[in-house]
Amino acid sequence: MTTVLITGASRGIGAHVARELADTGATVFAGVRRPEGLTSRLGDSGDLRPIALDVTDDASVAAAVSTVEEITDELDVVINNAGVAGTWAPAADVVPSDFADVLATNLLGPVRVTQAFLPLLRRGTKPRLVMVSSGMGSLTLQGNDSVYADIAHLPYPASKAALNMLTVQYAKALPEILVTAVDPGLTATDFTGAVGQTVAEGAQAVVSTALDTTRPSGGFVDRYGTTPW
Ligand SMILES: NC(=O)c1ccc[n+]([C@@H]2O[C@H](COP(=O)([O-])OP(=O)(O)OC[C@H]3O[C@@H](n4cnc5c(N)ncnc54)[C@H](OP(=O)(O)O)[C@@H]3O)[C@@H](O)[C@H]2O)c1
Repeated sequence: MTTVLITGASRGIGAHVARELADTGATVFAGVRRPEGLTSRLGDSGDLRPIALDVTDDASVAAAVSTVEEITDELDVVINNAGVAGTWAPAADVVPSDFADVLATNLLGPVRVTQAFLPLLRRGTKPRLVMVSSGMGSLTLQGNDSVYADIAHLPYPASKAALNMLTVQYAKALPEILVTAVDPGLTATDFTGAVGQTVAEGAQAVVSTALDTTRPSGGFVDRYGTTPW
């Protein structure tokens, strides 16, 4: 039986990934800021367990660890999915405070969640740590002639580039854990105002990475394969 903890499972890609993994027979702890009514929203297929988890809040994450520990003493997969877009102002208008929310959620959230759940993850079977990143965080894809070449924004791409670096550093520091950054690709969720591929397509690489125990640690993938840093 695979056990999974995913953050940001209330809607969008995270909700879909949680449902799909529960459908494979996994026990899925679906971390959300407001667990009330979540089962009716996510459906009741499989062993899907909503738990309160705000990735920006130490006490909330500590309480979530205690909740999971009441059920199991090991996790096979931790998925850092929760994310916010932050300010999308012209780069020349962005001030340091515009970074606060996006870095707190997209960068420090994964650090907080990973550190807190590490003891459970270390006891898992072929443990996997999945960072839901973005092609926007790829230095290569932000270069000339690339898909993002004409988009100049500061906080969100910076947060995902830093999350990519966390992936590389965790992979080096935790050789017993398979660490992977995943780019879902432009996906039609609240995040994009419903622009992009279907949510099922956006969830695909996250689900396959969560289930794959064989890939090398420290990589960056999308649903087509390896993607450049
Ligand atoms: N959609 C895309 O095109 C796309 C592309 C590349 C990467 N991504 C990444 O994929 C991930 C999921 O995005 P999405 O498109 O599914 O976005 P979404 O529909 O806006 O969902 C975002 C999720 O993150 C949760 N969240 C935000 N702040 C949180 C916090 N402090 N603690 C816990 N949960 C929090 C939200 O919870 P609430 O319901 O409580 O707000 C929600 O469940 C993000 O990391 C995003 O950067 C998305």
